[in-house]
Amino acid sequence: MHASESHVPEAEPPPAGAPSPAPSVTRAGCDVLVVGGGVIGLVTAWRTAQRGLSVAVADPRPGGGAGQVAAGMLAAVTELHYGEEALFALNLSSARRYPAFTAELEEASGQDTGYRACGTLAVALDADDRAQLRELHALQQRSGLELQWLTGRECRRLEPMLAPGVCGGLRADGDHQTDPRRLLRALLIACERAGVAFLRSEAVRLLVSRDRATGAELADGSRVHAGQTVLAAGAHSGALAGVPEQVLPPVRPVKGQVLRLRVPREYALFLSRTVRALVRGGPVYLVPRENGELVVGATTEELGWDTGVTAGGVYELLRDAHELVPGITELPLLEARAGLRPGSPDNFPLLGPTELPGLHTATGHYRNGVLLAPLTGEVMAEALTRGRLPEEARPFSPRRFSHPHLNALQELPR
Ligand code: GLY
Repeated sequence: MHASESHVPEAEPPPAGAPSPAPSVTRAGCDVLVVGGGVIGLVTAWRTAQRGLSVAVADPRPGGGAGQVAAGMLAAVTELHYGEEALFALNLSSARRYPAFTAELEEASGQDTGYRACGTLAVALDADDRAQLRELHALQQRSGLELQWLTGRECRRLEPMLAPGVCGGLRADGDHQTDPRRLLRALLIACERAGVAFLRSEAVRLLVSRDRATGAELADGSRVHAGQTVLAAGAHSGALAGVPEQVLPPVRPVKGQVLRLRVPREYALFLSRTVRALVRGGPVYLVPRENGELVVGATTEELGWDTGVTAGGVYELLRDAHELVPGITELPLLEARAGLRPGSPDNFPLLGPTELPGLHTATGHYRNGVLLAPLTGEVMAEALTRGRLPEEARPFSPRRFSHPHLNALQELPR
C-alpha cells in the first residue's frame, strides 16, 4: 500500500501469553481502517484483527460515543416492535451470543464487563399501559416466545419496591444487561492486545481513488491508506466528507437523556432486575447494576446534534421513574447525560459492504448498539475477510438504501 504521511503508530508488542496478534499497522497503511472508536467500531476492529488483518481505528477519543451514556439493556424481547420482526431475529441472535462473547472479551482484556444475567420485568401502571403491554405479549407469542404474564401483586412479589399502582407485567427472564462503560474499556484493551492501532485524530474525509475507497484523511492532516474502510462513527457516520452521496449512510442523531443514581449499600435489594414500563404511553427503564449504580433512561428526542441535558428531560425521567418505584427519590443522583443514537430510516442497522468498493458501514444501530455488538463484530469481520455478509445479516446491508425498490427482507445484490 502507498506510504502516507500518517501518524500511524507502530503497534505495541502484545503481552506474553496473548493470542497471536494481527499483523502490525505500519506507516504504509493498513488492511482495514475503522472510522469511529465506540462500541461498534471497537468490536469490529477487535474481531477483524483476530482474523489476522492489520487494523487501525481513527477516533480522537476512542472508547467514547453513545456507549458512555447507554444503559446497556440487552432487551431483545421487551423492545420488540410491530414491523421489526427481522430486527428481532438479529437482536435475539446477538443476545444469545452475549455469554460467550463476554467470557472471551473478559479473558482477552482481563476486565470485568458488568454483564449480568438478571432478566427484566416490564410492567404497566394503568389500564391503557396494560393494554399496550398485552399487545406486546401477543406479538411476542406470535414470534414464538413464551413469556409469563403477571398480576400486579405477582410483580411486587418479585420486586417489592414497585409502586402499589402496578397492575400487571411481563416477566422476560432472558433480557439481561451489561455495563457499556466497562464494555468499552474491555474492548479498548482487547483491541490493543490484538494489535489494533489507535489514531487519535478525527477522520475528516474519505479518500477515493479510481472508484474505490482507499482510506481517510485525518484532522491532523495525515492520510491513512487502507484496503477497506469502515464507517462506524454512530450518528456521525453520515457526515464524513468525500463519501459519494449514493453510499452515504442515511443515519441521523436521536438524542437520549439518561440519569445515573446510586443505591446505597444498605438498600442492596432495591431492584434485583431491570424494570421497565410505559407510564402514560412513555417508556422508562431502571437498570440496577451489581456495583450499586442505577441507570434511569431514556428520552427519545429528534433535536439534531444537541446533547444538552434539560430540566424537562430530567423531570420526565424522574417523574416516571418515581411513579414506578417511589423510593427512587431517596437515592443520590450522580449524573445526567445525553447521547446520540444513530437512527436509520427503518430503524435497522447498516452492516457490511456498500456499493463503493472498499467502503463498509457498521452503523444505524439506533436503540440496539450495545445489544448488537457481539453479532456486529462477527458479521463485520466476516465481511471484511471474505467479502460478503453472513446469511442472517444480509437483510441489513446498506445497499438496501441504494436500491429503494427493494425492502429489507428481499435478497439484495451483492
Ligand atoms: N435501548 C434503549 C434506548 O435506546 O433507550
